[in-house]
Amino acid sequence: MQRLFSRFHSLSRLPFRSIRATMSDTVAAAAAVATTNTTNTTTPTTDTTTATTMPRKLEGYEFFEKTLGSPRFILAPMVDASEQAWRILTRRYGAHACYTPMFHARLFSDPQNGHKYRADQWSTDENDRPTIVQFCANDPDILLRAAKLVEHECDAVDLNLGCPQHIAKRGFYGSYLQDEWELIEKMVSTLHRELAVPVTVKIRVFTDVEKTIRYAKMIEKAGAQLLTVHGRLREQKGHHTGLADWDKIKAVKQALKIPVIANGNILYYDDVQRCIDYTGVDGVMTAEGALYNPAIFMDRKMPPCTWEMAKEYLEIVRDYTPKLRHGIIKGHLFKVMHSSLPHHKDLRERLGKASTWQESYDVVLQLRDRLEEDRKRIGEEHLSGQPDEKGIRQYGHWRCQPNIRPPLPEGYGKKKDKKNKNQEQDKENNEKKRDNEDSAEHSKEEVA
Ligand SMILES: Cc1cc2nc3c(=O)[nH]c(=O)nc-3n(C[C@H](O)[C@H](O)[C@H](O)COP(=O)(O)O)c2cc1C
Repeated sequence: MQRLFSRFHSLSRLPFRSIRATMSDTVAAAAAVATTNTTNTTTPTTDTTTATTMPRKLEGYEFFEKTLGSPRFILAPMVDASEQAWRILTRRYGAHACYTPMFHARLFSDPQNGHKYRADQWSTDENDRPTIVQFCANDPDILLRAAKLVEHECDAVDLNLGCPQHIAKRGFYGSYLQDEWELIEKMVSTLHRELAVPVTVKIRVFTDVEKTIRYAKMIEKAGAQLLTVHGRLREQKGHHTGLADWDKIKAVKQALKIPVIANGNILYYDDVQRCIDYTGVDGVMTAEGALYNPAIFMDRKMPPCTWEMAKEYLEIVRDYTPKLRHGIIKGHLFKVMHSSLPHHKDLRERLGKASTWQESYDVVLQLRDRLEEDRKRIGEEHLSGQPDEKGIRQYGHWRCQPNIRPPLPEGYGKKKDKKNKNQEQDKENNEKKRDNEDSAEHSKEEVA
């Protein structure tokens, strides 16, 4: 813990110099590729003439250390949630590197409407580093077209092979590509060959650990320079999310030469070090943990107050990304204040109805006053993080804390399966029909 803490301190001073240095390498490399591509469209960038003039692209641990600054604490890619404002907030509270939300490569790079999609979804600036931009895709050329649009504004481009949502099934991307090894190999190797910045990949695991290792090695061989392993199966989603399998992450880490990031089961700061000790990974990524406590990557005696984080986030939005969709802002406010709002239902209702930044800010300020009163009245002696019998730490409702969902009632699912067997069968048939339509009509698919 001490080692990790001092590492955080030294990193927070160090990487900027090294990142800046390697960023200029990267920019120069990008410029070289751009020049090559515009002046000689018939010559591939792997041509020996260009290869000798192009600065060397950093790979594996060199990329991890020099460009990314050996990040241990990593904010996960999250649709509608790891946008620039949230990245700024989590970096202030200890995140060493951040992923953007997943962007849909075809929509992002669409020649007609791509600019609208990009204006709505993507923003960054020179302080927003290190950042890895994530795409979903199922076509190497389209993925490359999208990645080229951001290669000068990020440190790497990530391919999402983990999304388990139904929309990913319909759009044929994310974890629904995990049996399409040839296609994955082509997408990764294309970016590795053609992009100025390294390509990274995020996967889920298979039931069979050996297959998971073969899969990870295939991705490494294709040219990925960093792999994130979310230790859950594709089927582990919604009510069936369950625990991530750190043993499988450990097995992948032992089998690969490139850096490996673990993802899954991080509720508290201490879990990060536990995960590193158990799996041997190079860094740990969290999504939900950081949504409910943006300071999860800080070794603090007590987590921050919910209203403090909400207020700071809103001020970041005002100062840096004032055009951010209010739906995204409210999504964050409800999550970061989830422990507080049930205690002040009138304010929860007002927040639900708020449609402007100012309305949301007013709710947060009022909540601050109420929560401060609660804190004085209730006190914190018996709420200073003592774990209960399930290991859940006890904090006052004014403090950020993980959202622990109650276990499902005994027999949940089985009963439903029996009762709704016919309905389920119909649903399955409809899904199959829709999937067939979708694969015939890829250009019309949509993304969340
Ligand atoms: C709101 C939300 C949005 C997400 N969007 C993405 C995404 O865009 N790309 C991706 O690879 N994973 C996405 N995920 C999955 C997370 O990156 C992560 O793999 C998963 O939540 C498990 O990590 P956790 O246990 O720390 O939450 C999302 C998760 C959440 C909660």
